[in-house]
Amino acid sequence: MSNTLSGKHRGAIRRGRGELDIDPQQLAEIWLRQQQEGKGLIGGDPARRPRWKHPAPPEPAPWYRHGLASPTHTQRLYEFLAAAPLEVEIGAGDGRFIVAWAQRHPQRHFLAFEVRWKYARRMYARAQKHGLTNLWVSDNDARVVIPEVLPDASVEVFHILMPDPWWKPKHQAKRLLAPWFLSILARKLTPGGILRVETDVKGYPEFVETLAASEPLLALHNPALEARFADAPLTTRQIWCRDHGVPVYRRFFRRRLAASARLTPPKK
Ligand SMILES: C[S@@+](CC[C@H](N)C(=O)[O-])C[C@H]1O[C@@H](n2cnc3c(N)ncnc32)[C@H](O)[C@@H]1O
Repeated sequence: MSNTLSGKHRGAIRRGRGELDIDPQQLAEIWLRQQQEGKGLIGGDPARRPRWKHPAPPEPAPWYRHGLASPTHTQRLYEFLAAAPLEVEIGAGDGRFIVAWAQRHPQRHFLAFEVRWKYARRMYARAQKHGLTNLWVSDNDARVVIPEVLPDASVEVFHILMPDPWWKPKHQAKRLLAPWFLSILARKLTPGGILRVETDVKGYPEFVETLAASEPLLALHNPALEARFADAPLTTRQIWCRDHGVPVYRRFFRRRLAASARLTPPKK
């Protein structure tokens, strides 16, 4: 898999604007509305979407559209999810990381969410090109599908690589990580499973650590877990960061082995 970017990628990636803006009161309101009204869902609630502008590859292609997949196809997905150790990427972009990672781990199964059809399509084309049979793609907002489709304690690794910061206040409801969603991710992890978050946005790592510290199922960030991903392929955004000398911050959270509350309170 190529570790350099072509011109078409270079133009599409922009530098960030500085530090993540976190207003606790504003965020608390946003998170409530996310949960109660589905505010901020990208592409809207699939159940209410009358028609999709873009076609999905016909079944039985390993592509999942929530609410539109036939019962047989949904059953296929369930069987795929249960048939091998599972890793999930949220916001996979053009699939540069997950396709290479899935190639490297043929004995594992992968599910990748990318809500922008153009990129999801590109990821799917990459997977097809390499003849991958251990990767499914979904172009739904992961926040809708994960709670409904993934069994609890079924995911060994969640990869969240370079999530959108959504800088503007009016867009903050689209931000992926919120306490309610982190709780769902924690529940979906197998005991000992890993949540891997990487970002080049200043303030984002601390934000995620604060959220994780309030989630009883998750242990605090453990830098030693990075070793497991030391040779992981880079994403398109990460290649851009590397080429432009922009640092990438990495955080790793394990689901506690026992589903008990935190044994010791986080240090202030
Ligand atoms: C900044 S891009 C990073 C893409 C890729 N991970 C990379 O590093 O090149 C974030 C991606 O996440 C996708 N995304 C954001 N929120 C999402 C969600 N809730 N569900 C699925 N995809 C999402 C966006 O469409 C976007 O392509």
